[in-house]
Amino acid sequence: MFDLIIKNGKVVSPASTVACDVAIKDGKIAALGHFNASEAASVVDATGKYVMPGVIEAHMHCQAPFQGCLGANTFFEQSISGAFGGVTTFMDFANMSRGQSPYTQALARAEEMSESAIDYSVHGKFVESTPEAIADIEKMADAGMPTFKMFMTYKKEGVMSDDETMLKVFQKAKEVGGLPMVHCESNAIAESNIEKCRQAGDMSWVNFAKCKPVLCEAEAFARAVYFTEYIGNGLIVVHTTNGEALDTARRAQAKDLPLYVETGPHYLTLFDDLYQGENGHLAICSPPLRTPEEAEDLWQGLKDGTILLTGSDDCTFDIDEKSMFLEKNPDGTWKQDFTKVVNGLSGLEIRLPILLSEGVNKGRISINKLCALTSTNIAKVYGCYPQKGIIAPGSDADIVLVDLDKEVVLSKEVLHNNISYCLHEGMKVIGYPVMTIAKGKIIVENGQFKGEKGAGRFLKRKIDPQYLAHYSLD
Ligand code: URP
Ligand code: ZN
Ligand code: ZN
Ligand code: ZN
Repeated sequence: MFDLIIKNGKVVSPASTVACDVAIKDGKIAALGHFNASEAASVVDATGKYVMPGVIEAHMHCQAPFQGCLGANTFFEQSISGAFGGVTTFMDFANMSRGQSPYTQALARAEEMSESAIDYSVHGKFVESTPEAIADIEKMADAGMPTFKMFMTYKKEGVMSDDETMLKVFQKAKEVGGLPMVHCESNAIAESNIEKCRQAGDMSWVNFAKCKPVLCEAEAFARAVYFTEYIGNGLIVVHTTNGEALDTARRAQAKDLPLYVETGPHYLTLFDDLYQGENGHLAICSPPLRTPEEAEDLWQGLKDGTILLTGSDDCTFDIDEKSMFLEKNPDGTWKQDFTKVVNGLSGLEIRLPILLSEGVNKGRISINKLCALTSTNIAKVYGCYPQKGIIAPGSDADIVLVDLDKEVVLSKEVLHNNISYCLHEGMKVIGYPVMTIAKGKIIVENGQFKGEKGAGRFLKRKIDPQYLAHYSLD
């Protein structure tokens, strides 16, 4: 007797779409095939729906003190918002300041995340390379957290890793079978441009993007890739925004360097014209939004395999936090100063809908490719495959049912991210998640959240060495 059978759906993996039923027992996939309704305690009819492995979010910042702000959601609220977007596992970063132990901070973060309704894991973060900090890398890998984040910018904010730190973390990550993750922007280029704007007395939203142009990202991207080649290991580059960086990636991947590139929904659908508006500060994120031409380069990278990962980089700040250090002019408009605006956009809940609509329904990627980009590839690179990322016997029963014809107009009202604006307000998406199942339990159905606070469990990860030896997730 099974606990649940999902009947009559189309079961998606990166390799195939198969019309069959999914039988679930004790939170795991028990079998795929054809079953009678009488064989389970309950049955979900998935006629006409795609049955996909739950979305894995490996890039978000929730309750993360940054630039004087904290974010709008608790981890429980974040897990609810994610669940409505088909997310069944998420990962966040340890909060780090100099002098702190990365390992201790990662454990503290896991504790904070334990109120989540979905499974969770933690990445280490490195801001310095003291012997103590480097020694923590092995402890983190042993504890199931073999991924180590570094920022190549944010020096003023106190979280930048300098080149020496990067090299030392890259080296130690290699020794423990882990992967560094980097935010690539040249702090030097950004800061020298910001200084010029300050001297010219123009700190407008528009100048934010101009201070961090494509080259600012591409220089750091290339440096991180050369460091990786020098050390001889793999690398994850988060939130990549442009074709110049992808050209570097292609050269490295052609040499079989395991360089895993991520992009996110906002770089595919939002552009730098937003900085021209009075409320352009709501769109400030790093790297900045780019142009539709760069977005086409990203789609090409998704199609040709240069980009194998997507992540939302969710940083959900409400208007009060985005505006909290700003002043107004006598006429009520903002006294624009982009250095006083916290960086980051919301995106956890809309990653799957946007990729369904702009990707699958516009013919840019197949539903199988989407499965890889939102779930399977993430599970492989971050070290939780095949427990996560695939609908196969023995895997966790983390599943999202997708209606590829469902139309939704995105707005702050339809999302569950606790904020009073939506940068995609009015955008019609076609294709939407309609049911989310986490470890065999329905947590979203008919627009209702049915999950439970604290039901999520810490996910121990270990990266398969083959993904560190070659550029391939096959
Ligand atoms: O603007 C962003 N992305 N803020 C969050 C921190 C980061 O850089 O990922
Ligand atoms: Zn970043
Ligand atoms: Zn981020
Ligand atoms: Zn190879």
